[in-house]
Order: sequence, then structure tokens, then C-alpha cells
Amino acid sequence: MLTLVRTIEARDIYTKGHSEGVAYYAVKIAEEMGFDQEKIEKLKNAALLHDIGKIGIPDVVLMKPRALTKAEWAIVKQHPQLGFLILKEMKLLSDISPWVKHHHERWDGKGYPDGLRGEEIPLEARILAVADALEAMVAERPYRKALTFREARKRLRKGAGTQWDPEVVKAALRAIKKPYRVSNDRNKFYRQMERLRYEEAIAPMKLAVLYKIAEEAEKVSGLKQLLQHV
Ligand SMILES: [Fe+2]
Repeated sequence: MLTLVRTIEARDIYTKGHSEGVAYYAVKIAEEMGFDQEKIEKLKNAALLHDIGKIGIPDVVLMKPRALTKAEWAIVKQHPQLGFLILKEMKLLSDISPWVKHHHERWDGKGYPDGLRGEEIPLEARILAVADALEAMVAERPYRKALTFREARKRLRKGAGTQWDPEVVKAALRAIKKPYRVSNDRNKFYRQMERLRYEEAIAPMKLAVLYKIAEEAEKVSGLKQLLQHV
């Protein structure tokens, strides 16, 4: 289970801690709505794996630091269905697969992949949608600033009845009083991953580019010599 989660995160480093955050919020909401322990456990697994379909999205799209084109968006939007297909095949996880499939549906029917509306969307998927949005709003990302927890709660209230199930939003606002924070242990894992990525992939790549530039520019042969010794 944890291996699966870390596999997703190793690909999509921008969203580090996202799955855990979504799980934290989803569990709080489910407790508030009176779910029993077994159902809470299942929902937690679904939250941890809700973006597993991103494994099937190409790196160039998933890690693009700029705004996505229409075609790229269409690819990203396939991830709930991809996740569904992956989990459906796993005996222990097949019953959570529909919740993963529908975590981007909207209460007003304007979501994806199926445009389900209201109670056509499984309740668990409606909870995941709120937990997912809340986490995305309050978490720091390299490409945008986080909202304050107060501002995020305000947005949830505003989207109740259009983007999200109003009952789920009500439960979330009642149950969640503070934002999720990534644990020290997890932070250590992410730092290790980032270091590995930088030292073993990005840094040598930059050096190779510099070397190439120096090689081609005859005038700066001094730089070429210098780089040979780095
Ligand atoms: Fe997602």
C-alpha cells in the first residue's frame, strides 16, 4: 500500500504529501458523517490511491511547469479512469475503484469522466472530491501560493451545491479545524528523493549542457577546460 503511494509520489514530486493530506481530510469527514471503522479504512485507501492513474500520464505532461494545452489537459483528465482500471484488477482494492474513477465528478454534473450529478456520484467519491480540493488549496506548491486555511474554508462554502455535495462540505467544515501538515518522517523521504533527482539526473544534465556550449564556443576554451575538472 505505502509502496504504491510512494511510487505515485516519486513520479509527481510537486504533489508530495498530497495523498496523505487527502486521506487525513477524507477520514475526518467520514468520521463526522458516521461511517463505521471498516468503511473509513476503505475510504482512506481510496484517498491514498486516488491519483494512482497518474502513473499512466507521460512525464512531459505531468511535470510540465507551465500551463497545460487543451490536448495535455485531455490526457491528464484520463487519470481517474486509468486509476479505476488499475485498481479494478486488484482483488483487495476493486471495490474502491469506482470512488477513484469518480473523484473529479462535480455535484452539478460538470465534472469528469462521466458527468455524473448529485447522488449519482458515489458518496465516497463526493468525500474524496472535497478532501482533494481542500488539500490542493492549502498545500504549498512550487508553482503557486497556498491559500490560508480560512480562505480555503470560505471557498468550500462557496462551492457547496455546485462543485461539491453540500452535506459533505458541511461535515468537512464541522470536522476539520486545522490544515494537514506533512510529518517530519515524510519530509525526510521527499528531501531524499529530491536530492537523488537533482544529483543524479538534473545536475549532470546541466553540466553536460554547459560543456556543450563551451565546446561549441571556441572563444571560451578556458571554460571548457574548467568544466572538464568539475
Ligand atoms: Fe485527481
